[in-house]
Amino acid sequence: MSKPSSQPFCASSIIGTGSYMPEKVMTNEDISKFVDTSDEWITTRTGIKERRIAAADEATSDLASEAARRAMAAAGVTAEEIQLIIVATVTPDMFFPSTACFVQKKIGASNAVCFDVSAACSGFLYALQVARHFINTGNRTTALVIGAEKLSSLVNWKDRNTCVLFGDGAGAVVIRRAEEGTDASGRVLSTVMGSDGNLADLLKVPGGASFCPITPENVATRPNTIHMEGRETFKHAVTRMLEASQQALEIAGLTAADVALVIPHQANARIIGAIAERLGLPPERVFMNLDKYGNTSAATIPVALDEANKAGRLNKGDVVLLVAFGGGFTWASSVVRW
Ligand SMILES: CC(C)(COP(=O)(O)OP(=O)(O)OC[C@H]1O[C@@H](n2cnc3c(N)ncnc32)[C@H](O)[C@@H]1OP(=O)(O)O)[C@@H](O)C(=O)NCCC(=O)NCCS
Repeated sequence: MSKPSSQPFCASSIIGTGSYMPEKVMTNEDISKFVDTSDEWITTRTGIKERRIAAADEATSDLASEAARRAMAAAGVTAEEIQLIIVATVTPDMFFPSTACFVQKKIGASNAVCFDVSAACSGFLYALQVARHFINTGNRTTALVIGAEKLSSLVNWKDRNTCVLFGDGAGAVVIRRAEEGTDASGRVLSTVMGSDGNLADLLKVPGGASFCPITPENVATRPNTIHMEGRETFKHAVTRMLEASQQALEIAGLTAADVALVIPHQANARIIGAIAERLGLPPERVFMNLDKYGNTSAATIPVALDEANKAGRLNKGDVVLLVAFGGGFTWASSVVRW
């Protein structure tokens, strides 16, 4: 990965967090009733115990809108104050309009510019960085950044290699320009991002779009579901998330020893454990909720950030390290001063 040049002082702060998880719980036990797997296998290989599944009439924008309302309430901002909505998702409501436009309509944010970002599980941190650029250049002052997924719509429920891993949910943050010299908490100190399209085939949904439209001939092979080389993905995830974390910390002028809490992408407890170990962070400084939700792709980090916030795990001044990895491959890391 090429080393990014050091970034100027960036005055964007997270001023509110929110999340929404669908009500329906699907446990490992439930899955073992329709594919050849077990709670024991899933728990030991991944750390996942259960995941949430959205209702048939619940679209990604519904999950995103509820998370957004909660983040706006926490931030004390009205929908009219939102000038930018970015939704990170690989499960948009439709090819177009963007899911962000549906969110705009549902929450009544009539003054916002809206678009989606596609970077798979790194999507939220990509979107955060895009929003930060809008804010730091003076183009916008207040933005909603949302990670939202209905991955159950992309899962092949007959493929035990993948169906046990994923779930639905949404998380959101409100970010706002922080004035220089003020003591605003939630300030984003640094972000690094990377991509390697040469490895695109290792984790993808090959069908259902322009490359391979669904036809009567191919529909039975389910090309419009998640295909993944699990072991390869695992290796790259550990390497890239570690590198990205170290770079984001370096740019912020910090080291892993300064980190009060790391909030990693929630894909696999073993991936998270390997990164924490290499960073020298003890388990109490690593946030995990994947046992409850599985991998919700772009939603994992904002959901975990909201839960950590609500649980009182973030104190003013804490250094919080966010780090993600996903299809593309893509990866990203941000350091936030809470
Ligand atoms: C998917 C993953 C959990 C599989 O764990 P693993 O230890 O690598 O397991 P393997 O792929 O080596 O498979 C081992 C065996 O378990 C089997 N298996 C796979 N899924 C299973 C399941 N749900 N239940 C029971 N057995 C399963 C495999 O068929 C294989 O059997 P075989 O040896 O007879 O061929 C792991 O590779 C992983 O988490 N990868 C990263 C995935 C990820 O994070 N993706 C998203 C990134 S954003």
